[in-house]
Order: sequence, then C-alpha cells, then structure tokens
Amino acid sequence: MKKWILALSAFLVLVLAFFIYNRAHRKMVITEITLKQEEYEVVKYESFKPGELWIDDQGHHIQAHGGGILYDEKTKKYYWYGENKAYPDHYPRNGVIGMSCYSSTDLYNWKYEGLALSAVTDPDAGYPLSDLKPDRVFERPKVIYNDKTKKYVMWAHIESPDYSYARAGVAISDSPTGPFTYLGSERPNGQMSRDMTLFKDDDGTAYLIYASEHNRTLYISKLTDDYLKQSGEYVRVFIDQSREAPAIIKHEGKYYMVTSACTGWAPNEAKYAVADNIFGPWTEIGNPCIGENAHLTFYSQSTFILPMPNQKGRYIFMADRWNPKNLGDSRYVWLPLDFYDGKMVIEYFDEWSMENTKRVYAEEISVNTTLNTKPGLPHTIDVLVEGEKGSYKVEWEYDKKNLGTIGQFKANAKILDLNVTKQIGKINVYPANLIYFVDCAPDESKEYLEVKKTNNLLNSVSDKAYGVDPVTGKSWGYEKTKDIYAYNENTDMFSSVRADESQVAGNGVKYKFEVPNGTYKVYVGLHDPWANSGRYMNLEVNGEVKEKDFVCPADKRTYIYDVTVNNGEITVDVLRSEKSTNNSHAPLVSFIMIGK
Ligand code: DGJ
Repeated sequence: MKKWILALSAFLVLVLAFFIYNRAHRKMVITEITLKQEEYEVVKYESFKPGELWIDDQGHHIQAHGGGILYDEKTKKYYWYGENKAYPDHYPRNGVIGMSCYSSTDLYNWKYEGLALSAVTDPDAGYPLSDLKPDRVFERPKVIYNDKTKKYVMWAHIESPDYSYARAGVAISDSPTGPFTYLGSERPNGQMSRDMTLFKDDDGTAYLIYASEHNRTLYISKLTDDYLKQSGEYVRVFIDQSREAPAIIKHEGKYYMVTSACTGWAPNEAKYAVADNIFGPWTEIGNPCIGENAHLTFYSQSTFILPMPNQKGRYIFMADRWNPKNLGDSRYVWLPLDFYDGKMVIEYFDEWSMENTKRVYAEEISVNTTLNTKPGLPHTIDVLVEGEKGSYKVEWEYDKKNLGTIGQFKANAKILDLNVTKQIGKINVYPANLIYFVDCAPDESKEYLEVKKTNNLLNSVSDKAYGVDPVTGKSWGYEKTKDIYAYNENTDMFSSVRADESQVAGNGVKYKFEVPNGTYKVYVGLHDPWANSGRYMNLEVNGEVKEKDFVCPADKRTYIYDVTVNNGEITVDVLRSEKSTNNSHAPLVSFIMIGK
C-alpha cells in the first residue's frame, strides 16, 4: 500500500479517537441553577391523594423526593425535606438542584421555603462543596434537631453519577429552613453508604441507617452526641439481603423498620422487621402492605414514617412513586400505617384524611373454587374497629365472569354495619380434580401451595427435571438439557416461566407425566412477561400439534385440551417455531395442570 494512504488512514484514526475520547470526557458545567416547573392553580387540600400531583403554595408540584419530615417544637411546624429534581432536560438524569424544604401546620398544605441545601454551581469549588455540584447526585435527605447544640442536622446520600462514590454527607443549620452549611461526606465506618435515613431515639441518641457493602447489607450506626460523626458503635443487619430505602419508627417501645428490595427506580415488595433494641436482633416479619398491588408497595418505595399528629399509635407511611423517565414528575404515596394485634398494616386508599379514617381492619380471606363454581366466601368476618374485635355481616362484590377463568382475582367485602368496603377477598379458580400442577420454575408459587392443600397431586414439588418423584413414586418433569432455564418472578403462577434457550427450531421445553390410562384435561398456562411479538411457538400434547406457529401471548392465557391416554403417559411440548428469528425468542411455558 502506498505510504501516503497509510499515513492518511493513521491520521483519520487519530482524529476519530480524539473525538470519541473528548465526547466521553466532556464535563457538563452547570453555572446557573434553573428550574423546569409547570405552573398550576394553588389548591387548598383537606385530604391525601396518593399518586396525584401535589401542588405547593406557589403553584408547583412539590419537589421533595426521597424525603423525610421534622416536627419543629420551636415553630410548631412540620418541615418536609427532599430531593428537588425539577431540573431542566440538559441536566444529568439523576441530578438534583438541591434539597428542598417545605413547611406545614396540617401536613396537607405545604409552603415552599426554598432550597435548604443548594447545589453548588461554581465549577472550581473544591471539597467539600464539590460534593454538591449539580452534575452529582444527592438523595434522601433527613433532618433531626440536636437539643444540646441547638443545631438542625441534615444527613443525605452523596453520589457520583455512576453511583460509585457511595458516601453520606452532613450539613448543619441554625434554622429548620436553612440555609444548611455543608460540612462534607464520608464512608461511615469505612463502608459504602447509599440509601439512608436518620432516627432520633427518645433519649436523644441518633442513628444513621444506611445501605452498605454494595447495597447488600444495612448498617445501623450510632452518631456522636453532636450528630455530626459516627460514634464507632454500629451493627450490620439484614446481611446479604439487599434491602434499601429504610424508614424506622419506635412504637410501644419496639423499633420497626420498613425497607424495600433493590430494583433501581422500579417498585418492589416492602418488608418490615421488629427489634426490642435498635442494635438488634431484628426479626423479619414480612410485607406490611395489604390489598391490590401490595406486592409492589402500591407502585412506590418507602422513604419515611411519621407519627400521625394527635393520634397515638398511628403513623403516616411516606413513599415515592418514581417516574424514571422524568424523575421530577415522581409522585408521593402517603398512606395510614396502623398496628393490629402487633402487626403492621399499610392499606391503600385513593383518598384519605387523618380525621376521617376509622381504623377498620380485617384479615385477608383467600378461597379456592373450581371452574364456574360459586366460591364459598363467609357471610360474617372478624373485624377490628379501633382495636375492638367484633363479628360483622358482609356482602361480597366481584366480577362473576372471572369464575370461568383459571387464576386469581379479587373480591371486595362490604361490611354492612360499618358501611365500609375492604378489598380483602381473593378467589383462586382452579380446574377440578387435579392430579398434576407443575408451576414451571423451582419457587413454589402461592397458587401451587393452595392447590397442593386441596388436591392429591402426583407432583410433590412445583417443578423438577424428569425422574421419579421421591414422595409419590410417579415419574414426571421436564427433559433436562443444558439450554433449559427457569425465570422466577414469583408474583403469580403465570409470571415464572421455564424456557429453552437453544435457539434451535423444534427444540423446546418438553414435559412428561406418568398417569393411569384414561381421559384427562390438560391445561397449559402461557404468558410472555417480556411481551415479545416475535416469540413464535408450537404446542404439542401427546405428540399432536395443538397450536402451530403462534405467538406466546403477552396476556395470561390457559389453553385447555382433552386427552385420552393408552400408554400411561402425557407429554406437553412447547417448541420453538421456524418463524422465531432471534435470540430473544426462546419458547416459554408458565404452568401445566392435568385434571381428571
Ligand atoms: C433506588 C433508591 O432507593 C433511590 O433512592 C435511588 O438511589 C435509585 N435506586 C437509583 O437507581
């Protein structure tokens, strides 16, 4: 090749490399704090409306995400601190322009007090102010008052945009509204610190509670008397359980902590734990949320728990409903948190007020029924009304059409004498006389456990590779190959799936069941959790093609077939069709039931 062509090519490669390097390392310098806020009419609120826009006294959606509340004895006001994410589009996605402060006397109507801690726009600012540049991330501020130093102390999660900084920052002020003076950040006790909260105990001792060790383990760390440093005394709790978004209260002498799982901005199931001593041991109890969407914390994530004013023993659970596409538009989900027989309960209301919410609690009632059969729901149920237990007549409301479909649906209990409707009923519809219910993934779904109670199943576990069942002695299971995978998403029997990843047409997930000769109904549950429109499959039962080149349904569907067996065996094969074209088109199956 001619020398000049080589030289030119080398030059072009260098120019391109320089261009790419420059783009990757180009720093965004924000020298002015600008807000992007819609203007709304100012509203006088008399209730909470979870998930709706919440307008402040200036006519803007409240910007106090990941927030917490301080009640200030001096001013007799509540102060709500949180992330102000009303940044314009050119700001980094997770950026913050500061920690907002709002004040209120009734918790419904909030006055904007400005940024208690503002981002620092000077591009040359050195540490500690460099922690607060607008291209950084600061989250979940919490403020407590120190009775000895008479200072308001704020702790917050301080981050780099790639979330590798993992530090806790501290700031102080003489006034609840700020401005707070930023003192700097640290890795408390030498460990990472991300989602965090503060807790001030009755004796004035305060604790920083933070997700550490790559969010795997939570730390509870006692602060020094001035609340500005770690005392050195700390414990590790919920080890390797990846809990974040901690919120903590003391109720009747015990400590209760609610946390979320770690799924970024996506909602997940909350859990709570209880301890006699804040340093543990902590006993994990389970999900405090009840009713529809309880498994997703009503599409939100915990941030704080506030004692309800003038209502001893009652609390407000504060959570964020994140909008990952526009974090500034994220909403607040505030709900009553109550204790019934020592059990923490968070129930959803579209609208509620502290004045009008009677504490009425009834346990969830789950009944099984077979297809097209009226479920045996009770006519009276036990209800706790303001802590008093009584037996109350109920009428059940549900959509009768659902009885013709396999799966679970909800029923509302209308408690007649109280004129209250509670969403506490669950109706599970199954085929009659099942001999197999394979819920294709190793985790036992609640449906599998329910069916197991009332049917003599020949499968003693929810799923396994083909072989003899150690309990029933019958052979059943899937054909094991190196390409068979299970995706556990244990929300219901449709959501966990078994898949064949071989990417070969004709291969698939193949199940075999030993059965006595006779006639059967075979139920195949299909659902594509990823709603892939190109996932073409073939479904064969006992070698006979039942569905050809069809797309695995994005909705949850049960395919039902009559089968006559002469050779002691039923096979169900869900195979990859020739029409599937790429890696993400693995054939899937959710469950297989066999009934007489
Ligand atoms: C979940 C945390 O709870 C939030 O505060 C925030 O850090 C997001 N993760 C970031 O993905």
